[in-house]
Amino acid sequence: MMNMVRIGVSLVLGLSTLLVGCQDPSPDKASLEYSQQLYDGCVQCHGENGEGNQAVGAPSIAGLQRWYIKRQLRGFKAGYRGWHIEDLAGKRMQPMARALKTDENVDLVAAYVASLPPTNPAPTLEGGNPETGKIYFATCVQCHGENALGNIDQFGPPLAGASDWYLLTQLKNFKAGIRGTHPGDVTGAKMRPFSMTLPTEQAMKDVIAYIGSLSE
Ligand code: HEC
Ligand code: HEC
Repeated sequence: MMNMVRIGVSLVLGLSTLLVGCQDPSPDKASLEYSQQLYDGCVQCHGENGEGNQAVGAPSIAGLQRWYIKRQLRGFKAGYRGWHIEDLAGKRMQPMARALKTDENVDLVAAYVASLPPTNPAPTLEGGNPETGKIYFATCVQCHGENALGNIDQFGPPLAGASDWYLLTQLKNFKAGIRGTHPGDVTGAKMRPFSMTLPTEQAMKDVIAYIGSLSE
């Protein structure tokens, strides 16, 4: 029975994708239930509410936008995200994205995650100076937005409301070339040069402290 429902859902989705082209159709009730089932495979690491789990390096994902989630899931699937030998966290995520066999499944689980309200994880980093961070953040605004809520035109995801430890790992990864250097990673390549504008780990903590202050 469930299989028939699934086939039905993918037929409807397949058709609506044909009809509306690249637009994101808003999910109906049946597809929401199905996407919730897909999300069961994520709970172990990202938590019931998408709040994340630092112990396994899984960030909060609630509050991310559907387009960005899709892009990252595709990146993990295709292997341009998490490809680097030192990217152990990325390698934990890759098989999870690959378990989403079809584009429809990627789209549906992304819609579900995007529907979860932001969880605003508690800060874990210490010693960041938001005043100094504000000065660094001026260069980030064009792609991540004044309030760090993201800018789809530049493919910049929201940073406000993210796990602070995760932001630090990603800034270090971009700077070290662990993320954003694979030839397939065109949006990561846009980000990488800006990680270089943060000269030290302290500068990274400062900008993260400023980003944190935006969602208080
Ligand atoms: C075994 C643990 C695990 C499971 C299960 C898992 N993830 Fe992840 N996920 C991770 C880790 C670890 C990262 C961080 C990768 C990194 O540091 O680059 C991650 C990163 C992500 C990101 C990138 C977030 C960002 O801000 O760029 C998304 C989106 C994501 N996961 C979605 C999912 C979805 C959807 C599922 C279920 C289909 C899922 N994950 C299942 C461990 C997991
Ligand atoms: C030219 C546009 C651009 C600028 C300027 C920029 N970014 Fe980004 N940033 C991006 C894009 C695009 C991504 C998503 C990369 C991808 O698709 O994997 C990103 C991703 C990130 C991520 C990872 C988010 C996640 O959820 O994994 C962090 C952290 C980040 N940027 C911080 C910054 C900071 C801090 C600055 C300023 C010092 C900055 N960015 C400036 C475009 C930019």
